[in-house]
Amino acid sequence: MAEQLVVSDTLHAYMREVSLREDEVLADLRQFTAQLPAGAAMQVSAEEGQLLALLIHLTGAANVLEIGTFTGYSTLCMARALPPGGRLTTCDITARWTDIAARYWQKASVEDRVELRIGDARKTLDALHSEHGSGHFDLVFIDADKSGYLHYYEKSLDLLRPGGLVVVDNTLFFGRVADPEAQDADTVAIREFNTYLHEDERVEVSMLPMADGITLARKLTV
Ligand SMILES: C[S@@+](CC[C@H](N)C(=O)[O-])C[C@H]1O[C@@H](n2cnc3c(N)ncnc32)[C@H](O)[C@@H]1O
Repeated sequence: MAEQLVVSDTLHAYMREVSLREDEVLADLRQFTAQLPAGAAMQVSAEEGQLLALLIHLTGAANVLEIGTFTGYSTLCMARALPPGGRLTTCDITARWTDIAARYWQKASVEDRVELRIGDARKTLDALHSEHGSGHFDLVFIDADKSGYLHYYEKSLDLLRPGGLVVVDNTLFFGRVADPEAQDADTVAIREFNTYLHEDERVEVSMLPMADGITLARKLTV
């Protein structure tokens, strides 16, 4: 058996056909976002959204932090999966797209469990630490500016409880991470981040070749 199957467009279409359960609200948000500049590229894929919901269910995460809201697709997937009383704090540097997000959270009746913070994530993470201290969150999803990933990861580890999960998007970065000729700032930042994580003994790690690459890092309990 092959170590890693190459997913052709046909196979990808088949996978979607037999596994996706994107409902009307999510499909509507996807269509709406696709009309925005770079909308489709910014938003998580439907299968990634579904995985995020599954991870929340699997871990029982009740306090979730998201870095990078955009039009709120991933937020919506995770918010719906929260247990009763659960809360999702999501942040973005601009409110330009988050009004759209808020509209869809309302449509899906999850607005009461979502808290949106606007501002540079560096400041938001510091504020969250001042408010809650270390170990408050069960799961953190990082999907913002790539140059900030290492910083967000370090802060997230502190904000996470032992046994909590960090989920990081775009860790294969269009496949550019494996192309030595690709030396743009974002690719270099993701490469450095991946290497850093590989050597980080505070977490156990798994890198999934799904969508644009998703890394799971679970904070060890000892
Ligand atoms: C890839 S999009 C997030 C997509 C979102 N998870 C979804 O599924 O629709 C990245 C977002 O990060 C935000 N961002 C960029 N730099 C940021 C920063 N320094 N602090 C907070 N958010 C930032 C951008 O404004 C953008 O909305």
